[in-house]
Amino acid sequence: MKFDPATNIQNLKQFGEFGDVNPSITDSSTYTFMTAQKMIETFSGDEEGCFLYSRHWNPSNKYLAEAMAAMENTESAWVTASGMAAITTTILQLCNAGDHIITSVTTYGGTFAFLKNYLPKFNIEVSFVNISDLESVKREIRPNTKPIYTETMTNPLLQISDLPELSKICKANDLKLVVDNTFTPMIVTPAMHGADIVVYSMTKFVNGKNDCVAGAICADQSFIDEISSVNDGTAMLLGPVLDPLRSSSILKNLHTLHIRMRQHSANAMYLAEKLKADGIKVNYPGLEDHKDYALFNSIMNPKYGFGGMLAIDVETSEKANILMEKMEEEGVGYLAVSLGYFKTLFSNSGKSTSSEVPEETQKEMGLSDGLIRFSTGLDNDIENTYQMIKKCMEETGIH
Ligand SMILES: Cc1ncc(COP(=O)(O)O)c(C=O)c1O
Repeated sequence: MKFDPATNIQNLKQFGEFGDVNPSITDSSTYTFMTAQKMIETFSGDEEGCFLYSRHWNPSNKYLAEAMAAMENTESAWVTASGMAAITTTILQLCNAGDHIITSVTTYGGTFAFLKNYLPKFNIEVSFVNISDLESVKREIRPNTKPIYTETMTNPLLQISDLPELSKICKANDLKLVVDNTFTPMIVTPAMHGADIVVYSMTKFVNGKNDCVAGAICADQSFIDEISSVNDGTAMLLGPVLDPLRSSSILKNLHTLHIRMRQHSANAMYLAEKLKADGIKVNYPGLEDHKDYALFNSIMNPKYGFGGMLAIDVETSEKANILMEKMEEEGVGYLAVSLGYFKTLFSNSGKSTSSEVPEETQKEMGLSDGLIRFSTGLDNDIENTYQMIKKCMEETGIH
């Protein structure tokens, strides 16, 4: 049978000790042992199935991690207190002082800032490349290169990474391919295309409620064991663990993700087509004229559409601000950063989620001042939403 992330999640049989259909929440930071010997064996790693301390593992986190691993078709996973925690833990586990990273220049601004401004503290060098230019990726490989880092769909330019080709490059050079799949859960399963480690901000589509910040690292068992090692694991020692109460609520939301992704995608496609027909500059990877349309088709699980993220370019940040304020007033959605919410969110990327990227770099990567990134909501009447956007454009004189 063909791999399907939603079916994999549905097939999990996770229930609580009293037959509760939602696994019980383990509201404890520590665990009792009936014998001292058992504790010694558990700490030395000889005894499986026992919990030590909730910074290491908590049963509620284990359920969510198991479900994320099922969705991503990886052996294992670990859940973190934020998406940034997932990204930084992964990178700090893979790299020692003196190592080198190749990354897409277009990534989430926080990731860019970590790579550019924080890692020099550890003498870790980073090459920023156009990830679609595979020759430039190859050119940057050095003897001390450890991972290639990218996002399946990059933020905010919505470029699609050629995961199969990047994976070939990694395999040929003994590198790890790390992929942030935050924009495209269900839609793309990076591990099926050779990603070694898949990181998530679960704050976004996975949770879908904007009521918490969370992340996940999906990988093979040995990497998850490495990060959670009591002796030298980055997750265990830096401690970015997710609260089990949150794990429990995210797990319930994960079970509706497949339905939500379809609706986000259908709505975004509708807006993209309509706005494009009106002559607006639209960037949406589901449009045939998007430069990565064929590539996206070749790696996607087609049932879930092309995603909820789309961008329009209104040329200047001044115009973007006027339009965004009007759209908020008219009820199109909220002027807010973040994504994956049931309401439409919009922001001017250059001045918000990518503001960490210096202006010259923004220009080089093709990020226009007037780019408005939309995270399309779950609107039941998207034609009505489109009409509202159109009215806002007309009344502000933007189009
Ligand atoms: C693609 C991507 N990755 C990672 C993050 C960071 O996630 P968090 O805010 O949960 O730390 C974000 C946040 O906007 C993001 O858009």
